[in-house]
Amino acid sequence: MTPIRKAVFPVGGLGTRFLPATKAIPKEMLPVVDKPLMQYAVEEAYAAGIREMIFVTGRNKRAIEDHFDTAYELEAELEAAGKGALLELVHSIKPDDMDVFYVRQPRALGLGHAVLCAERLVGDQPFAVLLADDLMMGRDQLQGGPTVLGQMVDAFARSPGTVLAVQDVPRADTRRYGVVDVRGATAPLAEVFGMVEKPHPDQAPSTLAVAGRYILTPAVFESIRRQPRGAGGEIQLTDGIAALIGTEKVQAFRYEGRRYDCGSKEGFLEATIDLALANPDLSASVRAHLARVMG
Ligand code: UTP
Repeated sequence: MTPIRKAVFPVGGLGTRFLPATKAIPKEMLPVVDKPLMQYAVEEAYAAGIREMIFVTGRNKRAIEDHFDTAYELEAELEAAGKGALLELVHSIKPDDMDVFYVRQPRALGLGHAVLCAERLVGDQPFAVLLADDLMMGRDQLQGGPTVLGQMVDAFARSPGTVLAVQDVPRADTRRYGVVDVRGATAPLAEVFGMVEKPHPDQAPSTLAVAGRYILTPAVFESIRRQPRGAGGEIQLTDGIAALIGTEKVQAFRYEGRRYDCGSKEGFLEATIDLALANPDLSASVRAHLARVMG
C-alpha cells in the first residue's frame, strides 16, 4: 500500500497571467486537448495510489467542484442515448474508491497559506501537494510507466522525509524558480542543504528548480505558521520547507519526465501541442497542420 494516502491541490490562486480566460473560470479548469488541468493532476495522484483528494479552493472555483461531482442529468441523457463509452468517460472522472474533500481558502494569501488551510483534513501523516497548473508527464507515462508523483512516492518509500520534485533548468532561468542547494550531489534523490526563492543566476546554488509536486511531512504546518509574511503579505510554502532543513530530512528528487508550466501561455501551448501529437486520434492532422504552418 502507498505510504502517502492524501493529496492536497491548492487551487485558490487568481490566475492573473491567464486573464481574461480566468475571469470566471479557474485556470485549473482550462483544458489541454480535452481534459482540464485539474483532472490530469488528480489522475496523477490516483495512479500513485492516493485515494483522498483535498482541494483548497477559493472564489470562482465552483466549476472544479462540479467537475468532480456526479452529473445526474448528463449521465441520464448519455444512458438514454446509449452512449456507453461517453458515460464511462464521465464516470471515470471520480472513481468510486476516490474521496474528494473541499476546504476554502478565504483569501489568496499565498501557497503556504493554502497548504495550511488543509491542515485539519491532512492530519498527522505525510501527504502530497500537487499544483495542477504544472502539468507533469512522466517519461514513459503514456506507455504505462510511472507518473512523476508515482516516482516520488517510490523515492519516499525508500527514504522517508520531505521530497521536492526538481528539474535542471538553464542557469539564466533560475530567477523564475525556487532553487535547491544539494552540494553538488548528482544522485536522483539528494539531501537539500538550502533553498533560495528566485535567485539571480550568479547567486543560484545550483540549476535544480523546484516543480509543482511535493511530498511533505506534517511538521511543515507549524513551520509555515512560524514564517513571517513575504512580499505582498503572501505566506510562502518555500520558506516553511526551507526552515525544516537541519531539523528534518529534506530531499530533492530529479524526476524522469517533463514539466509544462501551464500557468504561462507558452507552457500551456507547448503542452497542448505535445499532447495533441501524442494523441492517436489527432496526431496526423496536427502534424500536417504544423507542417503547413512551418512550411
Ligand atoms: P501562482 O504563483 O501561479 O499564482 O500560484 P496564481 O495566482 O494562481 O496565478 P498568477 O500568477 O496570478 O497567474 C501557484 C499555485 O498556488 C496556488 C495556485 O492556485 C497555483 O496552483 N495558490 C496560490 C493558492 O492556492 N493560493 C494562493 O493564495 C496562491
